[in-house]
Amino acid sequence: MVDKKYKYNIAVVGATGAVGRRMLVTLEERNFPVDRLSAFASARSVGQRLPFRGGVVEVKELREDSFMGVDIALFSAGSSISKKYAPIAVESGCFVIDNSSAWRMEKDVPLIIPEVNPSALGEKCGIIANPNCSTIQMVVALKPIHDQYRIRKVFVSTYQSVSGSGQKAIEELKQQSRNILDGKSVENHVYPHQIAFNCLPHIDVFMENGYTKEEMKMVNETHKILSDSTIEISPTAVRVPVFYSHSESVRVETELPMEVDEVKGLLSKSPGISLVDNPGENEYPLAVDACGKGEVFVGRVRADLTVDNAINFWVVSDNLLKGAAYNAVQIAELVLKRLGN
Ligand code: A2P
Repeated sequence: MVDKKYKYNIAVVGATGAVGRRMLVTLEERNFPVDRLSAFASARSVGQRLPFRGGVVEVKELREDSFMGVDIALFSAGSSISKKYAPIAVESGCFVIDNSSAWRMEKDVPLIIPEVNPSALGEKCGIIANPNCSTIQMVVALKPIHDQYRIRKVFVSTYQSVSGSGQKAIEELKQQSRNILDGKSVENHVYPHQIAFNCLPHIDVFMENGYTKEEMKMVNETHKILSDSTIEISPTAVRVPVFYSHSESVRVETELPMEVDEVKGLLSKSPGISLVDNPGENEYPLAVDACGKGEVFVGRVRADLTVDNAINFWVVSDNLLKGAAYNAVQIAELVLKRLGN
């Protein structure tokens, strides 16, 4: 949280979307020092009224002159909008915190998880990228383990909710579920297959190496955030019929030996992590429990059965919050600190 002496003009681009709406809620809940809030979306949404701090904000169409007088712009309207408008916003003097993948791997663009690499935030005004949702929750859990034991390999399988594909995917899962339970046929628009009562081992497009772009984001972004491309990462990203929160099964191999209890102690003390690990009482992280919360939940920490110096664990977080809106607002708070507030 920041000192509220100064107030800032904030713009949310993609304010009507699944993440954009959470950005407004998070700004309000964290009592971010907002002077004027501008909400932008496509021409389709002009005039829509979004709740903010007890009142409403009217949605305006995003245009090239939308950033006049704006101090910080939070973008979540997809890569093509970010590619076009983020440089325009920077040109008019504001910081851009971008939730899309458009700028993440650019050399001069910091890719930030505030609990992990806050110092990567540069001094000058520009674009700051919010990492991919699956990457964020995994790396928050990896960071303390890497610092203490030096990670060599990561094997990860994700169980990702449909809200990661936006509002239309939430509607598609609802509609398909209703239709199937009513014995009717289903239509697929967002995904290439039925998502209700199904699992799709396919998130984003396939690359030449047989992995998906989502899986390669987890590899490349982790290397950038941890400034260590020697960590070998083997990911499988799966879309599951869950509305909110992503879950991940993670196996980590380290250079130094680990004790399970020591790792649990380390994780429980680490910033942004909540350890939920009491299997005897059926307590472990769950998507439904993580929903609406800003932390990363870790549990089922146990020694691997096949090799030394390896543990398995389960990580869950709200993909729209820590995986997107909450992390973006935390970055905005870091920006304010940089500005001396
Ligand atoms: P709109 O609601 O007007 O389509 P989601 O990720 O949930 O699908 O949301 C995407 C967000 O990006 C929405 O707020 C959407 O606005 C916004 N968006 C899509 N296309 C544009 C555009 N051409 N200009 C500005 N915002 C856009």
